[in-house]
Amino acid sequence: MKEQKIIAPSILAADFSNLSQQIRYAELGNADWIHCDVMDGKFVPNITFGPIIVKAARKATQLPLDVHLMIKNPDSFLEDFIDAGANMVTVHQEEVVHLHRTISRIKELGAKAGVALNPSTPVNTLKDILEYVDLVLVMAVNPGFGGQKFIGSSINKIKELSKMRNEYGYDFYIEIDGGIGKKNIKEISDAGCNVFVAGSSIFSNDNITAATLELKNLVSA
Ligand code: DX5
Ligand code: ZN
Repeated sequence: MKEQKIIAPSILAADFSNLSQQIRYAELGNADWIHCDVMDGKFVPNITFGPIIVKAARKATQLPLDVHLMIKNPDSFLEDFIDAGANMVTVHQEEVVHLHRTISRIKELGAKAGVALNPSTPVNTLKDILEYVDLVLVMAVNPGFGGQKFIGSSINKIKELSKMRNEYGYDFYIEIDGGIGKKNIKEISDAGCNVFVAGSSIFSNDNITAATLELKNLVSA
């Protein structure tokens, strides 16, 4: 069972004119992974970046890059993101029709494979894929933007996933994404979550290192 607690700062909220320095500040605060939010203006109503920025992040850090694809037809881009340096690639359940094929392909290409759920998608839609995935990402906001309010019912999804993981002896990470900060991270951790994505609570803080460290300490205690 996964005991580890992982802080994954999302560069969505970072200052891109100084990306490598911003990542360095998070590293100094004991960040574990760097979360990269890829948006195409179609699956979600916002556009962010593609493989070029993932490649830039790869040059800036040795930490694992956790790439969250909020795009239509992610199958066409898996290779590009993995070549750019993604260590984990997460696709959305709502977009991918042949999820088993996509998950297998990500692994074949040498990355860890994750599946993400929008707030309105139930956990039980993943029942038959759970044994194959390395990570399940629970969206606690509607994907598309940073700085939104945490949707409370997401905690039930974490509990449900944690229960299924124990029951069947699976080994996937449970990741939460959206609205995470010092006020709610401990409760979510106690519900069985392992990976905590935090965008604005880290990068909108004047002291990125201290903000990262504070979250890390809250879940490590
Ligand atoms: C939202 C993204 C999140 C976002 C979280 O669609 O998937 O990763 O960066 O940002 P905060 O932590 O500000 O809610
Ligand atoms: Zn994300």
